[in-house]
Amino acid sequence: MKINLEQLVAYAKNHGFVFQGSELYGGLANTWDYGPLGAALKNNIKQLWWQRFIQENPHNVGLDSSILMNPAVWKASGHIDSFNDPLSDCKQCRTRHRVDHLVTKHDPTIDADGMSLEALDDYVRTHRLKCPNCGGHDFTPTRQFNLMFKTSQGVIDEAAQAIYLRPETAQGIFLNFKNIQRAMRLKIPFGIGQIGKSFRNEITPGNFIFRTREFEQMELEFFCQPGEEIGWFETYKKDSYQFLLDLGLAADNLHMRDHAEEQLSHYSNATTDIDYRYPWGFDELWGIASRTDYDLRQHQTHSKESLEYFDPESSEKYLPYVIEPSLGVERLFLALLFEAYQEETLDNGETRIHLALHPALAPYKVAILPLMKKKHGEQAVALHARLAKYLPAVYDETGNIGKRYRRQDAIGTPFAVTVDHQSQEDGTYTLRDRNTMTQIRLDEAALLQYIKEQCVF
Ligand code: GAP
Repeated sequence: MKINLEQLVAYAKNHGFVFQGSELYGGLANTWDYGPLGAALKNNIKQLWWQRFIQENPHNVGLDSSILMNPAVWKASGHIDSFNDPLSDCKQCRTRHRVDHLVTKHDPTIDADGMSLEALDDYVRTHRLKCPNCGGHDFTPTRQFNLMFKTSQGVIDEAAQAIYLRPETAQGIFLNFKNIQRAMRLKIPFGIGQIGKSFRNEITPGNFIFRTREFEQMELEFFCQPGEEIGWFETYKKDSYQFLLDLGLAADNLHMRDHAEEQLSHYSNATTDIDYRYPWGFDELWGIASRTDYDLRQHQTHSKESLEYFDPESSEKYLPYVIEPSLGVERLFLALLFEAYQEETLDNGETRIHLALHPALAPYKVAILPLMKKKHGEQAVALHARLAKYLPAVYDETGNIGKRYRRQDAIGTPFAVTVDHQSQEDGTYTLRDRNTMTQIRLDEAALLQYIKEQCVF
């Protein structure tokens, strides 16, 4: 059985994955805290992205740039002038809405992204669009709303300088293009990837962790020779899609959406989104864009520093073109939970929930369970301590063994090791598989080796 969004939110809370942010004080809308299992799953997602796109990729290197940057960065990147969404307030119930969303909800065939503010406003009025909250038709004029979070830097209020929380991690990469190329003596083509928090004052956050104001991105900027960008764009489309399949998302639930020419941003010559089938329909998971030399050129112009690359082979100087695959950690987290969640009725009539995550993603790789706490507890505690040096392992001695298996199934632990009377005699243990529920008997060295092999990604 598959789960709906409401059920998933409850499941994620009850099992220690995601809690409402500031819950003790009534919450802060659309903020979420990641519990022990959520934090582990998030870390595993990020680690596997890093492994695939940085560690295993011969062209790419990593970066961790700061969230706060000189405000001039956002002027150059275009975020101060045009990182806007069109918004309008319902005069009747005072709720705020993204006008482009109201338009596409009314007619999904319309490309609202490409419409001017006036055209959107006109559409709302001529089609008498309804407020999704109260059904009213009376909206304030449509206006642009900048999505960047503004704050100030400096201890004395009067001297404080306005700065912004970064709305994407990408600009930190462009700023370090020259530093990294020189320090690491890199030759084009090469990529720089980073994972980090981004902030957007979204008008209509929602759908649990799908659209929030604070989120994490895994972004790669891949620098190549002009003219070669479309070949690399196709490579990254393919590699990104394959990464999702390898993590366990079903091809049926993924859709590559190529942007038509009229939908492309002014700086892009090709863009594709990989959409996932969330419970509310296909929606954007991963954006892959060919961004030409727009960002480097903007920073070169505004900083008055040359960002050109000297190609030692052709003895030419040029601004590299950029391919950017940009993926939200939480959107992938949500897709993986939906995909992995399984509910089945067993022969004995019991319901079994099991989270069929790839072992590399599972928060715990192994659970150590004494068959009987009094008799086998001491040996199980010692085994857990030894295994925990190599793998995330959890020890559980409460309740009957069947219940403990169910608990581990429900949080995606791929293996359960039971310590029983035979373990005391010959040092072997039963190893139970989460998906098949079958058991094999192995000694400590063999079971550690087996689990490690199964967790390879
Ligand atoms: N540097 C390019 C960039 O930021 P984007 O399409 O605005 O492009 C990239 O964002 C990805 O970041 C999206 O595909 C999505 O996975 C994630 N993302 C964007 N806004 C988000 C939000 N408000 N909440 C959660 N994830 C978000």
